[in-house]
Amino acid sequence: MMMYVQGFQLFNDLLHDKTTHINCSSRKLGRLLSLGILISGRGSNMESILKAIKTRKIPIKPAVIISNRPDAKGLQIAQKLGVSTEIVESKGFKGDRWDYDQKIIKVLTKHGVTPRNGLVCLAGFMRIISPEFVEKYKNRIINIHPALLPSFPGTDAQKQAIEYGSKYTGCTVHFVDSGVDTGPIILQEIVKVRDDDTEEILSKRILAKEHKIYPEAVRLFAEKRIKVYGRKTVIN
Ligand code: GRF
Repeated sequence: MMMYVQGFQLFNDLLHDKTTHINCSSRKLGRLLSLGILISGRGSNMESILKAIKTRKIPIKPAVIISNRPDAKGLQIAQKLGVSTEIVESKGFKGDRWDYDQKIIKVLTKHGVTPRNGLVCLAGFMRIISPEFVEKYKNRIINIHPALLPSFPGTDAQKQAIEYGSKYTGCTVHFVDSGVDTGPIILQEIVKVRDDDTEEILSKRILAKEHKIYPEAVRLFAEKRIKVYGRKTVIN
């Protein structure tokens, strides 16, 4: 209970920017980073990250949740958790990918999620982002994918694993580069594929692992423990 209260207080302080440091060890890390999460739907990964920040004292400020869809369920979850939400609707948008991404960047910047001080998490964001956005936030955008990359990139990764006959699949948190699910890998978790698995059942088991590794990757990033060397990351 005590831990929860302390965690909640910390979360509130972070939200209202009452503190730029958390404790001795994070003081060494300098000013807190600001986190922006991009979603399109359910938002369960977003929720797991926000809850982990609150309860496990991850040294990052949850600054804004942005959805490209006004009806994304995750928006309500974020609001309940007291995090700012914004909608940048993509349906009917006339410009190109970069035009749209500039609108996202404007909102991120408004909430302090900058290329110098920010981390952007894609959490079920159903859009490919432009090379310009990737370059501007180089090695500051991360994504979760429901397969062990480089196997089964793109959509329906769980279905792909079943149809291929894989015995094992899993999930991957990786930096975003200009390809689709091709950036340097940060964390992976393995999930066994059972003979009688349906896409739905397998997806559930993978999702449970996603909720474990995505917050962990955010922690590693926030604590500045990930170094990128070309395609590889080293975690210390
Ligand atoms: C997850 O399976 C994630 O791996 C994929 O999209 C799904 C998003 O789910 N990129 P949620 O919105 O986080 O619940």
